[in-house]
Amino acid sequence: MHPTLIFLLVVSIVGSAQSQTWAGTYTADPSCNTANCCCFSGQIVVIKTPPNTYGLTSKVAGMCFMFTSISGSTTLTGYTGSLTMSGVPIYLQLSPDSRNITATSPLSSTCIARATKV
Ligand SMILES: *[C@@H]1O[C@H](CO)[C@@H](O)[C@H](O)[C@H]1NC(C)=O
Repeated sequence: MHPTLIFLLVVSIVGSAQSQTWAGTYTADPSCNTANCCCFSGQIVVIKTPPNTYGLTSKVAGMCFMFTSISGSTTLTGYTGSLTMSGVPIYLQLSPDSRNITATSPLSSTCIARATKV
């Protein structure tokens, strides 16, 4: 491979690793089990308020303590963050390519809710 091309590839991989972008609209992954879990439903919208505060809004479906939507704001640095839904912590993880959000809760360790950027 040409040395310049290798250099460009390295730079773009390092660049994308450092600049995660949580903000955007995501679509809930239907694989989440609503019979046992609280799952994202429809679209999840993440809005950035500089420097590091993010607002997250989503409909939810399944075993969600009677909730039909969640919204909250959180400080996100890097690729992990957390929200609280009526006292229940929700851990958020962004994939290295900033395309997928994975949400888990310590209350139901087998439940994983995923969403992919539109
Ligand atoms: C993101 O989610 C899509 C759809 O589920 C999947 O195909 C893809 O491999 C995921 N990417 C990462 C980096 O996890």
